[in-house]
Amino acid sequence: MNEQILYTKAGAIATIRLNRPEKKNALTAAMYATLSKAIGDAERDADVRAIALLGGSDFTAGNDIADFVASGGMGDDPAPVRFLRALGDCSKPVIAGVRGAAIGIGTTMLMHCDAVVLGDSVKMAMPFTKLGLVPEGGSSVLLPLIAGRMRAWWLLLSSETFGAEEAMRIGLATRVVADDATDATAVSMCEQLAKLPPKAVANAKRMLKQPFAELVRTTMDEEFRAFAEALRGDEARAALMSFLQR
Ligand code: COA
Repeated sequence: MNEQILYTKAGAIATIRLNRPEKKNALTAAMYATLSKAIGDAERDADVRAIALLGGSDFTAGNDIADFVASGGMGDDPAPVRFLRALGDCSKPVIAGVRGAAIGIGTTMLMHCDAVVLGDSVKMAMPFTKLGLVPEGGSSVLLPLIAGRMRAWWLLLSSETFGAEEAMRIGLATRVVADDATDATAVSMCEQLAKLPPKAVANAKRMLKQPFAELVRTTMDEEFRAFAEALRGDEARAALMSFLQR
């Protein structure tokens, strides 16, 4: 794995760690591709029974904005979409440990995880409207399901930043712990699941996903069409350039 994404294995647990601290783990196309590969490797490895998805002092500040601007759009089969599909399709449990910034896809990817451990100082936001963009990652259907209509609507319309307490209250987190216990808690929850009969865990996960799988898939396709179009528009261009020229 390239050094911005670290993949390690200890017993039945695979750990995928975002490791670009100098840019708050902002995700480039290359990092998404490596993340997709890491999930595929863990999926194919019969010894792996659960996956911990971790950051560092920040989880991720979202898509790399310079990358957005440099690539001039999203292409036909963009790396973030392939990553989210790999995450959503993974048959093994994925447990995220999240502290610091979890912005944009840093929040929406959590809706595809099986459990989410938040450090108590986490700062989350889905600033799509602020950036002239639209919700992605299936969040326009998953967030109302998770948080309820009114809370989801507000967070996605307002781009507001929120913390661990609010995330727990609206159902976006499984546990909130002290920041320095985040990674260890996520790994220990992976170990808890890894001790259970693996086929039963995979079957439970399949049953839980099944009722909304088609809706999530079609919503993600529609979101990414709208996202790619918005990315070419004036509002997004102005907002993204304003971040880069701060
Ligand atoms: N894309 C590219 N670079 C990013 C980034 C992103 N999404 N988020 C942070 N960075 C970079 C900064 O440009 C900075 O780089 P530099 O040191 O070379 O100037 C470095 O990471 C540190 O970020 P900085 O903004 O100085 O840290 P901060 O603590 O003041 O603020 C955030 C942290 C996360 C609040 C702020 O970086 C931010 O708002 N980032 C953008 C979040 C976002 O809109 N994501 C996209 C969602 S679609």
